[in-house]
Amino acid sequence: MAASHAVVGVEGGSSQTGLILSGSSTGDVKRPQFGTRFLTDPRHVFQHNAWDNVEWTEEQEAAAKRKVLENSQPLPPEKQEEYDTRASEYWNDFYAIHENHFFKDRHWLFTEFPELAPQCRLNHVGQWDSLGERQSTEVAAPPHTDGDFPGSSATYRVLEVGCGVGNTVFPILKTNNDPGLFVYCCDFSSTAVELVKTNPDYNPERCFAFVHDLSDVEASYPIPDGTLDVIVLIFVLSALHPNKMKASISRLARLLKPGGVILLRDYGRHDMAQLRFKKGRCLSENFYVRGDGTRVYFFIQDELHDLFTEAGLEKVQNLVDRRLQVNRGKQLTMYRVWIQCKYRKAPIQKPDTQD
Ligand SMILES: C[S@@+](CC[C@H](N)C(=O)[O-])C[C@H]1O[C@@H](n2cnc3c(N)ncnc32)[C@H](O)[C@@H]1O
Repeated sequence: MAASHAVVGVEGGSSQTGLILSGSSTGDVKRPQFGTRFLTDPRHVFQHNAWDNVEWTEEQEAAAKRKVLENSQPLPPEKQEEYDTRASEYWNDFYAIHENHFFKDRHWLFTEFPELAPQCRLNHVGQWDSLGERQSTEVAAPPHTDGDFPGSSATYRVLEVGCGVGNTVFPILKTNNDPGLFVYCCDFSSTAVELVKTNPDYNPERCFAFVHDLSDVEASYPIPDGTLDVIVLIFVLSALHPNKMKASISRLARLLKPGGVILLRDYGRHDMAQLRFKKGRCLSENFYVRGDGTRVYFFIQDELHDLFTEAGLEKVQNLVDRRLQVNRGKQLTMYRVWIQCKYRKAPIQKPDTQD
């Protein structure tokens, strides 16, 4: 997606600039707010590496639309078909080349998605402490793997879909010390899943990695419906053909417990990565293929809202994160657009009780 169409590993969350000191005597720091460094004077643009919540001018928006339109001639159907049927092979090739050196650990996860470690809080040196008694990462948890499905005896179950080599999964396992936690993760790239399983931090008593194609809605998951507290989708839905997104999200929604939540962060419309695609890479509107054969879609908020609500989920959050990243050395500005969503399955209503 960069100029060479390689996948850019800089998809980020909020910068660490928004730490708000609580002022409490314990030295605790509240969770950072969603982006709080604002560029008020354009002359100061090169004073920091990133600016949050950047407003686009009308001209900038119009130029982006023109760029997308100029490059909207889709590839012929047989090429489209090939990229779809061979999608997992292209990702296997990607991971065979990059192994686990490409994507960075997503440490911003816990500021944007506290649901992944609900009992943790950021301390004054920027580390996540458990609010419960257990603070060690060496958790003496009972094995959660001996029931009728992996993690059946767990009390908090998280599934990451499109986990790659574990840049989300391993930070969760490290940060969330809840002994009742069990983390599932899957990817349709068997190469990526193998890299997760051979990682020294992979602990089968707390984690279960498996190969699974999100868009194959007939394929079963190793987890019964209605058992997950959290499902995480980090830059993965955008890799699916847009025609397959609706059924895939509905299938995932079935796995959630009542009150369970899907967390998503993904590419937004007119992100720098979209505007950088050269002619001949467009598959359909706002959907492109990179030079390495992997694909990417650029969302608007309403599309994601419709996908989740049509799956019966209700909105907790749906926001667009417009970030201006700055390369101070090269004096370059990069306008990033990401969308972040949280959608929840309705909790079971307790029947009214009469005194
Ligand atoms: C941009 S990478 C993101 C990886 C990881 N979520 C992260 O943030 O580091 C997209 C991932 O989605 C996976 N993926 C793409 N399509 C998929 C599908 N249909 N089913 C499962 N995984 C898929 C790819 O193999 C790749 O690992």
